[in-house]
Amino acid sequence: MTDTRFADLLERVMGLSAASIGPGAIERAVDARRRETGLRDGDAYWGLLQASSAEVQQLVEAVVVPETWFFRNPQAFRAMERDVLGPRLRADPQRCARLLSLPCSTGEEAYTMAMALMESGIEPHRFSIEAVDISQHAIDTARAGCYGRNSFRGHELAFRDRYFDAAPHGWTLREEVRAPVRFSQGNIFAPGFMAQAGGFDVIFCRNMLIYFDIPRQKQAIAVLRRLLAPDGTLFVGHSEAGLMRAEGFVSAGMAMSFAFRRAPEVEPVCAPIAATVATPTRASLRPAATKRPVPLHVIEKVRAPRPELTRSQSTHRPAETLDLAALRRMADDGRVEEAERGAQAHIRANGASPDALLLLGLISDAAGQGKAAAHYYRKVLYLDPGNVEALGHLALLLRREGDHAGARLIDERMRRQDGRRN
Ligand SMILES: C[S@@+](CC[C@H](N)C(=O)[O-])C[C@H]1O[C@@H](n2cnc3c(N)ncnc32)[C@H](O)[C@@H]1O
Repeated sequence: MTDTRFADLLERVMGLSAASIGPGAIERAVDARRRETGLRDGDAYWGLLQASSAEVQQLVEAVVVPETWFFRNPQAFRAMERDVLGPRLRADPQRCARLLSLPCSTGEEAYTMAMALMESGIEPHRFSIEAVDISQHAIDTARAGCYGRNSFRGHELAFRDRYFDAAPHGWTLREEVRAPVRFSQGNIFAPGFMAQAGGFDVIFCRNMLIYFDIPRQKQAIAVLRRLLAPDGTLFVGHSEAGLMRAEGFVSAGMAMSFAFRRAPEVEPVCAPIAATVATPTRASLRPAATKRPVPLHVIEKVRAPRPELTRSQSTHRPAETLDLAALRRMADDGRVEEAERGAQAHIRANGASPDALLLLGLISDAAGQGKAAAHYYRKVLYLDPGNVEALGHLALLLRREGDHAGARLIDERMRRQDGRRN
């Protein structure tokens, strides 16, 4: 008989769905902890877990997946600064922005938020960043601020020279980036979790929901809704974007950033009766949606605007048959591989167009493939020299790679382009 006690406990405590971390992972973690604690068998270790919350935390530490790195999906950080906080902070010099990184793991995401804002000239006293994770070990690492090679991926590493000092075993983050970030250990499912907090302008909650089953995903998203300011922006991981629309969020329309805002509340227009709608589920992040009854007043309340309908209709058509606008929405919703396939098919059928090439550029950029992204952006500019979107993304990419002279040339082209339009 399979022993599910440990998996059930971890599900209860931290929302972990055993299937999400692969067969045997929980068993291996339990076995490692049992040996570490010197206990002879599973029953004895189970007894220890019943008696010691400290040991439960140790088991949590043994199963978490802390995978993270600086500027992971850089477009999200760029959009956060350019489309959300930059304009607000510049418009109101008294205003300070509040950000949350949950889960922050070992801190790379929270520190990247700080670096992205500082890069755009926003001074550190204009924002504060809370960073929370269930793993105490991850929080200790984050506070230490010393990082090895694995935290710096891809080729665009110019930020490392600007914000880190070389140390014997890696790179140490400078104080100016650490100052606005405050770390704490916390479990999103703990009763009273961040009960006194709220009103965050920006929340990054990326690559955690994928480890939960559907009821826990809904519970976690309800917490995020409580913590988010009414006009706040929530960034999720690309494979989590499909969940958000079903939970009353709408895309914030920032290309490849997987950013969402609360859907506008709509007053009920008719009495509650049962209706059947397709509800995106965890499985629908991959194939097949399930159907379940939802009261009509709930549908009215979170009814998405017209473009969302087009989007869900397109869900069931193969990417190869979609137009570029639908493919771009598909990519924004996190179905990146399909959108890429669709864009390639579009080019084969219709020839290369600036819009198709731009989409491929954005997809490569989001995947951290800077070289391929730059190649596509330049192709866009060959066909359409004044394409402001390609210019903007290419300038950002060059800057991240440390090519400041190249970025300045692109900025100059952008300014000339703006002059022509005004
Ligand atoms: C893959 S990391 C994501 C880090 C970062 N957000 C990113 O995208 O790079 C997942 C993190 O979720 C944390 N986590 C898992 N369950 C949690 C829970 N119930 N409450 C808070 N953090 C949790 C883990 O400790 C782990 O550090």
